[in-house]
Amino acid sequence: MTTETLIAIDIPTGDLRMQLEGKTIAITGAGSGVGRAATLLFTREGGNVVCLDVNDAWAKETARLAEAEGGNSIAVHCDVSDEDDVEAAIAATVSEYGRLDVMFNNAAIATPRPGLRFEDHTVEEFEKLTSINFKGVFLGTKHAVRQFRAQNSPGAIVNTASVAGMVGWGGTVYGAIKGGVIQLTRAVAVESAPFDIRVNAVCPAGMPATNFMDIPTDEATQSAAFEKVAQQHPLGRNIDPEDIAAAALFLASDSARNITGVALPVDGGYVAR
Ligand SMILES: NC(=O)c1ccc[n+]([C@@H]2O[C@H](COP(=O)([O-])OP(=O)(O)OC[C@H]3O[C@@H](n4cnc5c(N)ncnc54)[C@H](O)[C@@H]3O)[C@@H](O)[C@H]2O)c1
Repeated sequence: MTTETLIAIDIPTGDLRMQLEGKTIAITGAGSGVGRAATLLFTREGGNVVCLDVNDAWAKETARLAEAEGGNSIAVHCDVSDEDDVEAAIAATVSEYGRLDVMFNNAAIATPRPGLRFEDHTVEEFEKLTSINFKGVFLGTKHAVRQFRAQNSPGAIVNTASVAGMVGWGGTVYGAIKGGVIQLTRAVAVESAPFDIRVNAVCPAGMPATNFMDIPTDEATQSAAFEKVAQQHPLGRNIDPEDIAAAALFLASDSARNITGVALPVDGGYVAR
């Protein structure tokens, strides 16, 4: 190759652009864990992030952390199981930033009692899990699709499912609901594809570093729990909220413009065994 050829190359600058520059993203469960990590990553990538959570203090703290780094973020109260709240949250997003480009339906609760067997779930526990973990994704997806269509624009939806929705993992009802989230993701992806609306899911394995597992905070219990969870994954490491945020960023970004209807495990190889 001659020097002239090298000089003639038009060096692409696309790689240097921030991946969510000018985009507006609403994230549910943004007050903790994956939602907080995603808010920080997405604002670093140029996105405006609306932090939705039922816990207002946690959501405000996430938005504050993002703003302290120079990002654009606001907190809005939202119980994902309440349709009025979800509609109002999307309206607040549009009112603040003019549009919605990405909906990250991430909020969920864990199986209420550790080690709870299928036959021991009460109807109240079943209904609570369904209401937040499935109806919440239904409502977030429904109102995001409506907003994208009203804007007449493309859009991306990322849903947080779980490896528990792909294989038997414990937490039978929780897992069945996450399987439902994966199927909702695929079905809406196909139906909404003609409008350039993409719908994908991330499927984490065990993440002890969030509030989800409610692990006691003393150091000995924590390190034993972290070690135990890490050993479940062929790669031998824990999955961190930042790992899920990175996968969600990819699926939300234009780099994934031809990817829809996938359920992406972020699991250290757990479901590949
Ligand atoms: N941590 C894990 O081991 C694990 C494994 C697989 C999948 N996941 C999934 O990852 C996602 C994020 O979980 P996390 O680990 O960050 O948990 P987390 O408990 O740290 O965060 C969940 C957030 O959701 C919020 N929330 C709860 N109910 C809500 C409601 N009704 N409306 C709005 N917000 C609500 C909580 O206030 C909290 O801020 C969830 O969908 C969870 O099912 C977690």
